[in-house]
Amino acid sequence: MKKIIIAPSILSANFSNLARDVKMLEQVGVEWIHIDVMDGHFVPNITIGSGVVKSLRKVTNLFFDAHLMITNPEKHWEDFKKAGVDLIVFHQEILTDKKKLAKEIKDSGVKAGVSIKPKTSIEEIEDLLPYVDLVLVMTVEPGFEGQSFMEDMVPKIKCLRKIIAVKKYNCFIEIDGGINTQTSKTCIEAGADVLVSGSYIFSAKNPTEAIKSLFI
Ligand code: DX5
Ligand code: ZN
Repeated sequence: MKKIIIAPSILSANFSNLARDVKMLEQVGVEWIHIDVMDGHFVPNITIGSGVVKSLRKVTNLFFDAHLMITNPEKHWEDFKKAGVDLIVFHQEILTDKKKLAKEIKDSGVKAGVSIKPKTSIEEIEDLLPYVDLVLVMTVEPGFEGQSFMEDMVPKIKCLRKIIAVKKYNCFIEIDGGINTQTSKTCIEAGADVLVSGSYIFSAKNPTEAIKSLFI
């Protein structure tokens, strides 16, 4: 069986105790941390900026996956890179030249990914696939934690898995939104490599068990 990566979203962590929560995830054996950056414009919510990432970088060596739900990632991605993120994911729905952006990010030495909102089709990102290391398929409308998984996104995951296999692209599939022990199974079967999970992990009595239950 291929390896599945669990990327807990610190959006559901305790913001006054982020270092403690990240250390807890490290001890459980997690490898990635998903960081939801929202600007109150691309999405209705405002979350955290590069300053918080810079502080977290000092307490852990875990892989930082920055999900930029912002209108102008071309203006801000370098701040996140300097703060220590390993992967920068921008959205397909922004107006910037995405190929240029992906190339710039990768040339700087970090990984680049593109994310699609539920209404955006796989066809819209097909041209970009050779330029990115990862596609993040949103299974909720971006903006908030704790929403329900949209089952009708599953065919999109399968379609993407097929294209990546046929064209032999070196590209991970990450799924974000409403992941729990049931929906993780659906996503793994559909071809996911990375599963983001926020509220399911952080609201669990035993986060370690919650994380383990996502693999099975
Ligand atoms: C939503 C964010 C997600 C979210 C996941 O806009 O991109 O990463 O925090 O939270 P859950 O797992 O609670 O849906
Ligand atoms: Zn996210």
